[in-house]
Amino acid sequence: MSIATITPSRPRDVQVAEIGQDTIILRSRTWDRLKFEVEYSRQKGTTANSYLIQADKKAVIDPPGESFTEIYIQELTQHLDLATLDYIILNHVNPNRRTTLKVLLSHAPQATIICSRPAANALKSTFPELESHIQAVRSEDTLDLGQGHVLSFVTVPTPRWADGLCTYDSASKILYTDKFFGAHICEDKLFDEDWKKLDAERRYYFECLHAPQAKQVEVALDKLATLGARYYAPAHGPVVRYSLSRFTYDYRQWCQGQKSQEFSVALLYASAYGNTAIVANAIAQGLIQNGINVESIDCELVETAEITRIIEACDGFIIGSPTLGGHAPTQIQTALGIVLSTAAKTKLAGVFGSYGWSGEAIDLLESKLTDANYRLGFETIRVRFSPTTETLQQCKDAGATFAQTLKKTKKLRVPRQAVTEAQVDRTEQAVGRVVGSLCVVTTRDQNSHKGILTSWVSQATFNPPGIMIAISPEQNADLMRHPGDKFVLNILKEGRNVRRYFSRQSTSGDNPFANLSTQTATNGCLILDDALAYLECTVQNQLECGDRWLIYAVVDKGEMLTNDGITAIEHRKSGSFY
Ligand SMILES: Cc1cc2nc3c(=O)[nH]c(=O)nc-3n(C[C@H](O)[C@H](O)[C@H](O)COP(=O)(O)O)c2cc1C
Repeated sequence: MSIATITPSRPRDVQVAEIGQDTIILRSRTWDRLKFEVEYSRQKGTTANSYLIQADKKAVIDPPGESFTEIYIQELTQHLDLATLDYIILNHVNPNRRTTLKVLLSHAPQATIICSRPAANALKSTFPELESHIQAVRSEDTLDLGQGHVLSFVTVPTPRWADGLCTYDSASKILYTDKFFGAHICEDKLFDEDWKKLDAERRYYFECLHAPQAKQVEVALDKLATLGARYYAPAHGPVVRYSLSRFTYDYRQWCQGQKSQEFSVALLYASAYGNTAIVANAIAQGLIQNGINVESIDCELVETAEITRIIEACDGFIIGSPTLGGHAPTQIQTALGIVLSTAAKTKLAGVFGSYGWSGEAIDLLESKLTDANYRLGFETIRVRFSPTTETLQQCKDAGATFAQTLKKTKKLRVPRQAVTEAQVDRTEQAVGRVVGSLCVVTTRDQNSHKGILTSWVSQATFNPPGIMIAISPEQNADLMRHPGDKFVLNILKEGRNVRRYFSRQSTSGDNPFANLSTQTATNGCLILDDALAYLECTVQNQLECGDRWLIYAVVDKGEMLTNDGITAIEHRKSGSFY
């Protein structure tokens, strides 16, 4: 039997050195993989870099995460009397960093925390008692520490770090770049004199952290370019002194390379505790390593219009969610609604998520997409709580499979589109891609109630809140056509089959409300209890256009009938019929 020799790795420590005028670096070092996330999988250890500027005022920049709290505070107190600390500058906030922050503040309760506004909001919810100690800054704000150290701030939001901030010191010409220009590697060398040897680590770090957000990284690079920095002081790895312009150029090239890939995949997710985000990053790696441009979207941070734009433009999409209280978070439900109404059925889809015991959100995503006839590019990934190293490898493999399938599918599909039907059919198909919320309009004629199914409705004005509905003369919609007419717009909920009771025409025959639970609105028309929301409206104007009347009505009152669920959407194959 042979006995393997285990070489003990060096213990964690904090390396301290002067890197500029009145400025020291405190590098909390680990020689092993720090966490299981894919970005650490090259197993070269990492450094969590913090910086201390001691001018008339004292400022600490980016204290490390909780793995280093104790050794870091011990070392910091060797160089600074914490009772004299004026500022703690956080270029981003994460839960892991809060532990060190708490200890630091217990020794330096007088210190003011400087961070971006989104970071300030996050911090205030964790430490409400510190509200008066938190100072949010914006781009172009400055902070004078004395002796020429005027700090200027640049906000650099990205999907992964919406609260990202960079800090520039005009005295030392050091730009504190946080997550930009880093590398996960642990060495004794502080600077990048051997920068050619760092190429692989730098590229890997970029691919893990920034490739899925290349567009936002380019915007950040533009902002940082104006500062004239001589050093980049990142959150991880060596300080950049010898390869600053080369490294900046590399970032530009790598971003460009991402954006010019032939295929792009939208990766949508939300993650309350970080697990789903880690899975998302592993899938992204599999895609990126197979030549796919990934647009990462944290649905909690991105506007719905931006989600729509990205979904329209992508070749495939992958959506992931945690399960919280038996549901997907609202933002994921909204994103799913956008996907179902926007993404062509030919787009390749994927589903993933982290869960604890039941995983309803993952089931919901999968069933909605398969019911809507999307093809899945990998078997749905279900991860219980935190992913293991093995699970992350499976996620990377799933990303790679998705990439290969996408490329094959696209190749097969393109020539077929070229020999398509007549232009008129194509126009109808194209018009048919316009979708609308499925609604039931209820009207009242003395004691008789009517209901019409429609999806030709949209918001028309903000102030007053107003909607526009298109109706045809055949719809027997006389009760909602004249100025002053009242009706209720019942907005239907996805998954409830209320539509089967109604048709496009209001008929006075069968009573569609007999089998439905209803209540009477203030304006006398019926509210369907199974709807998602309702609006009480008064008609203001009508306009005859083509074969329809356009009705403009003002919303007098509205209410959500349930807090979960998404709007039912009408999908059509052609623009020449409903
Ligand atoms: C408040 C709360 C509610 C949860 N509800 C569920 C649930 O109903 N079903 C389930 O399978 N897991 C549930 N979980 C477990 C989470 O889905 C699990 O922790 C998951 O890893 C969270 O993913 P995230 O880190 O991406 O937010 C719940 C967790 C919390 C904290």
